[in-house]
Amino acid sequence: MWISFAGIITNYKDVKQFLVQKGHKFRSDTDTEIIAKLIKHIHGLHPNYSFRELVEQVIQQLEGAFALCFKSMHFPGEVVATRRGSPLLVGIKTKTKLATDHIPILYSKDVFEFGGRALSTRDRDHRPHGHEIPAHGLARSQSTSEFLPQGDNKEVEYFFASDASAIIEHTDRVIYLLDDDVASVEKEGVLKIHRLKRTLEDTHAREITTLKMEIQQIMKGNFSSFMQKEIFEQPESVVTTMRGRINFDSETVVLGGIKDYIGEIRRCRRLLLIACGTSYNSAIATRQLLEELTELPVMVDLASDFLDRNTPIFRDDVCFFISQSGETADTLMALRYCKQRGALIVGITNTVGSSICRESHCGVHINAGPEIGVASTKAYTSQIISLVMFALMVSEDRISAQPRRSEIIQGLRNLPDQIKEVLELDSKIQEISKKVFEKKSLLVLGRGYNYATCLEGALKIKEITYMHSEGILAGELKHGPLALVDKGMPIIMICTRDNVFVKCMNALQQVTAREGRPILICHKNDQEPQKYGSSVLEVPKTVDCLQGILTVIPLQLVSYHVAVLKGCNVDCPRNLAKSVTVE
Ligand code: F6R
Repeated sequence: MWISFAGIITNYKDVKQFLVQKGHKFRSDTDTEIIAKLIKHIHGLHPNYSFRELVEQVIQQLEGAFALCFKSMHFPGEVVATRRGSPLLVGIKTKTKLATDHIPILYSKDVFEFGGRALSTRDRDHRPHGHEIPAHGLARSQSTSEFLPQGDNKEVEYFFASDASAIIEHTDRVIYLLDDDVASVEKEGVLKIHRLKRTLEDTHAREITTLKMEIQQIMKGNFSSFMQKEIFEQPESVVTTMRGRINFDSETVVLGGIKDYIGEIRRCRRLLLIACGTSYNSAIATRQLLEELTELPVMVDLASDFLDRNTPIFRDDVCFFISQSGETADTLMALRYCKQRGALIVGITNTVGSSICRESHCGVHINAGPEIGVASTKAYTSQIISLVMFALMVSEDRISAQPRRSEIIQGLRNLPDQIKEVLELDSKIQEISKKVFEKKSLLVLGRGYNYATCLEGALKIKEITYMHSEGILAGELKHGPLALVDKGMPIIMICTRDNVFVKCMNALQQVTAREGRPILICHKNDQEPQKYGSSVLEVPKTVDCLQGILTVIPLQLVSYHVAVLKGCNVDCPRNLAKSVTVE
């Protein structure tokens, strides 16, 4: 048995105990092994079951979030794949066009209505393999032949993957499977999608989608890692996020995915921004602007904590779920929690067709392009821009907000060139990284709009360099963290000219008074803070609410260079996954 497995089986101990009692021996402590042993066990009990039926039996016993793909020597030439809570898609490659752009669902419940008579599991044991009940009464032959390629060449190749970027080099046609879909490719090479039972929400077919992704988007090119490539793509990715949405001349912003809901959003009780990790930091980065331009209370929550607290949610709440992958389990569960309570659900994702996308009432695709490196970089800056555009759109009818809106829109216009300027600091940042890469810890200090940069910079450093790093709000310094400061403690401090500049200078002096010599990120040609820094990284000035985009890039580069100097795997840091599809 060959199984490809992503996810977690939460009841694996119970299943294992059951199988041990039945005499099965285990070689590992992994949850993957219980799946292999369970299918073997069911095959022993029901040797007449088809491969797909065996898998259906297995998944009924499993709890958790998973994407599974099975092959077996007992069923040569067949593949069965299924998902629950983890993403899974099927890529289809044919020489000629397919005869249809959707594939019908076949239903195969243990007990189902068949010509007015309930057919039981026992009956099923004696019926021929593959006896299915298609939706809408489609005959089996009809449902499958429609799916075959047109013309004489019937050759079809199938690819199973959790992310489109893994298969784009082979095909751009995919089917996104839904939870509990069981896709099987049988000997004759026909793909079928089954579900155990029919529900009212079922669409009875899965659409074949054509991906808009290009191969070069997922190639490293001249870069040594995807993360480095993605950092350097930011002058273009921010443009694609804004493309077709901002008219810089008329200073108007239209987000097509939410325009029909703007009235409802303006009338809401409060905005909630819910996310994990970097996506959460993008919510911190934009909270102040959202409060200012929408004049609504804005709550920002980590999805896991939001769920732990059973937070009260009301029908007139508007809940934003921010997620690069669109598949993060905690964020998705928080979404379902809010949806059940009647709130309006807005998805902010980078992955078309993802679970968060599908389950939201409306949303914004950040259009940053595929992000392959585990550490999120360009998605973060595009998430910020998407939320800023949302704030601009909601405030369009507020006369008093027009000067502020205008300054932000012009700030967005200049951003791509300013990002290019920041990226030119790369070799200087590489030199600075040489001074810190052997240290144990790195503190990142700032406040106001730059606080999110501190959190995000520290997260990048931790995750890809394995060095301890902490983002500290400069206003909190005297409430504890100041005790850490001495001449040996590496510190990066962000000190740009905004409404908290004076307070930042104050914090900077407290640090230098304890012999701290921070690396400073400040505005170009701003002499005042520079005299306190051991090294200085000068970034161009932009509007306060966009400054975090320009201050985070040096920190993305610090984390990248430190990771390279330490010999870490930049794209695949230990213990982490790109999509966290488990709780
Ligand atoms: C850090 C990082 C993670 C993700 C987090 C949420 O670089 O990538 O912290 O931001 O796992 O993932 P998404 O945005 O896919 O929901």
